[in-house]
Amino acid sequence: MPNQHSPCGQKLLYRYLFKFHFLNCSVEYKMQVKYIALLTIFTCSQAIYPYFDTQDFIYNVPKVYRISIVLDKLLDYYERKPSKDPEWYIALGMARGQLEYTINELDKAVPEKLKENLKNITRRIDRVRKKIDMGDLVYRSKDYEYVVKAIFENMDVLSSVLEPITLGTMGTQKPYRFTFEQYLQEARTKMPGRKAADACTMQLLISAMETQTTQSDGVCEMTPECSSQIIKGSGLAFQQTSRVRAAVLASLFDCMEGLDVPAHIYKLCIQIYKETKSLEVWDHPPGTKTLFMQQILYCASQGYGEFVKPRWMNKIIAWQQPKGCYADDRQPFMRLTGFVGASTPATLNDREEEYRVKKAATSEGGACNSLTSAMALGSLVLHIRTLLETDQAFQYDVLL
Ligand SMILES: *[C@@H]1O[C@H](CO)[C@@H](O)[C@H](O)[C@H]1NC(C)=O
Repeated sequence: MPNQHSPCGQKLLYRYLFKFHFLNCSVEYKMQVKYIALLTIFTCSQAIYPYFDTQDFIYNVPKVYRISIVLDKLLDYYERKPSKDPEWYIALGMARGQLEYTINELDKAVPEKLKENLKNITRRIDRVRKKIDMGDLVYRSKDYEYVVKAIFENMDVLSSVLEPITLGTMGTQKPYRFTFEQYLQEARTKMPGRKAADACTMQLLISAMETQTTQSDGVCEMTPECSSQIIKGSGLAFQQTSRVRAAVLASLFDCMEGLDVPAHIYKLCIQIYKETKSLEVWDHPPGTKTLFMQQILYCASQGYGEFVKPRWMNKIIAWQQPKGCYADDRQPFMRLTGFVGASTPATLNDREEEYRVKKAATSEGGACNSLTSAMALGSLVLHIRTLLETDQAFQYDVLL
C-alpha cells in the first residue's frame, strides 16, 4: 500500500484516485479505493484538505491556508483600530470583490474548511469596513479627495471587473543593472510627482463623469499635459504605479478613446516587472516594501500572473508585524524619488494637513502604515485567487 511509505500517502493516493477517475472501475478497484480512503481518514484526520483534484493544485491549498491566517490577523488589527486612510478603505473594497469571485468560482476539490475560512475573511472585511466612519477619512488634498470619492462611488464596478490571470506575457525581464542609489537618482527625473498625478487623475474623472451624465456625443477629453503624463515617457517607482492606476481608471471610464489603453498598461507592467525584480535584488531597501506590494497588486490584477510567485508571497507573509499590521517608512523613499516634495509645505494650513495625513497613515502605538497594510491585503488576496484558479495554479512554483 502506498500509505505505508509516506506520512499521509497523499501524493500517491492522489495518483490512484486520479487514475480511477478515468478507468472503468471494476469492483476490485472500487474496493481498493474504499480501503485507501478509509486508511487516509484514519491516518490523516487532522489534515485540512481531505481530498483533492490534481497533484499540483493540492500544493496550493496549504499556501492559501497560510495566507488566510495572515489576513485574519491583519483584519483583526484594523477591526480593533479603524484606519482613517482612504487607501485602506479602497483596498478593502477591492479585496472583497476578488475574494467573492474566488469563492464563487472555487473548484469542487477545495476543502470545505478552506472555503469557510475564505467566507469568514469576507465577513471580517465587511465588519472592518462598517467600523470606518467615512466622515473621519483624511485626504491629502482636494484633488485626491475627488479621485477617492469617485472611486468609492464606483467601487461595485471597480471591484467586479476582473482580468483573467494569464502567464507567459511578461517575458524574462532581467533586473536593472544599476544600483539602488542610481535608481533613486533616475526616478527623480521621471514625471509625475504625486501632486501632478492627483490633479491629472481628477481631471480624467471629471471629464469621464461629464461624458456619462450629459449623454451628448462628447468624448472624455484630457488636457495634453495629463494625457502625456499617463501615456508618454518612462517612469519608475510610485511615479509608474500611479500611472497604472490612472490608466486603469481611464480604461474603465472609457477615457482616452483611440488609444489602446490595455496595450499601454501592458507596457507599463513589463517595465514594472523589471523594477519589482530589481527591488528584490537590492534586498528591499527601507521604504520600498509598499512599492513592491503595490507593483504586484496593480499588475497581477491586470492579469499578469508573473507577479504571483510563492517566493514573493513568502516575503509578504514574513513582513507582517507581530501585531498584525504592516509597516514601512516610505516617506524618505518617496522624497528621494521625487514623488513628493523634499521640503516641508510653507503655510500653516499645509503643515497641519500634512500632519493629519501622516497621523492617519501611521496608527498609534507603533509603525503600522495603512497604505503598506492596504497593499499587503490586496496583493495577498490576489495570490489566493491565482493559487486557486486550477487551470494555471500548477505553474506558479516553477516561476522565477
Ligand atoms: C468561521 O467563523 C465562525 C464564526 O465566527 C467560526 O465558528 C468558524 O470556526 C470559522 N471557520 C473557520 C474555518 O475558521
